[in-house]
Amino acid sequence: MALATIPLEQLVDGRPATAEQARDWCARLESGDILFFPETPLRFTADDLAFLRGQQQTGSSLHKNIAYKPKMDKLSGVDAKGGDGATVERLHGIMRGYSRQVVDFLSGFLAPYERRWRLDYASFRPLEEQNRDLPRRRRNDLLHTDAFPTRPTHGARILRFFDNIHPERTRDWVVGDPFAQTVRRFAPGQIAPRPGNAATRMGKGLARAVGLGKAVPSLKRTAYDDFMMRFHNFLKENDQYQSETARYPWQFPAGSSWMVYTDTVPHAVLAGQYALEQTLLVEPEALVKPEVSPLRILETMAGTRLV
Ligand code: SIN
Ligand code: FE
Repeated sequence: MALATIPLEQLVDGRPATAEQARDWCARLESGDILFFPETPLRFTADDLAFLRGQQQTGSSLHKNIAYKPKMDKLSGVDAKGGDGATVERLHGIMRGYSRQVVDFLSGFLAPYERRWRLDYASFRPLEEQNRDLPRRRRNDLLHTDAFPTRPTHGARILRFFDNIHPERTRDWVVGDPFAQTVRRFAPGQIAPRPGNAATRMGKGLARAVGLGKAVPSLKRTAYDDFMMRFHNFLKENDQYQSETARYPWQFPAGSSWMVYTDTVPHAVLAGQYALEQTLLVEPEALVKPEVSPLRILETMAGTRLV
């Protein structure tokens, strides 16, 4: 697990200098490295940064988890009825611009993927991460790999791009040992991948629970999604894993960006405030090293197809 530092001077028009270099960075990401830009490749106006850093959480129309859904151009986690419509409008505009900038940058930087990804949510994280009081499965200060309860990926990989927009402070992460090693060491029999019909049970139940019946295939979990969700919960709930696994600290400075496949790199955020993030779901066909993908690793372990 390594961190590759990429100074902006190494890029040519925001892109890797050669096609070979571009493939190499995709390969390193897929293998579990973090790509780190000491200076963000994005542009933020001083006004927008001041606005984002000025958001007071309590008593404002902004909630804890502010998500932007690019496909619908919708902002959630805010209360437009709270009498603060102008604030919500402004935030909406900033998030729309942020999401577009990340996509533009990654379309060039990750050229080998040829945009074969699904654009997932972006988020604004205005709260101090240290000592947040959250239920265990929602705590991000415990090492975990990512999986989304309501958004199964069907084998696509979860790539996240982060910006630390705090004016001075670092955003403090720890990361753990690679996925394959962690699954083998800590995943006991009961959470081994379960192929077969049982896999879609949770997806269907969930669809029914929200009143959508069978008509929503995106809610259907494959055996792969089922495992990834259980593994996320298992890691957060496993005291032995949390205390015994190796922990590698990284501090991301103010004004920096980084990206990482959070479906396989165990990560936790211990401290920091004010971050922006955009998630992409990269299609299996786009990967330059499919052999190290969690889907392949789990299928090899299970001896069967999982999607
Ligand atoms: C997470 O994905 O677990 C949180 C990362 C962060 O907010 O820095
Ligand atoms: Fe996470």
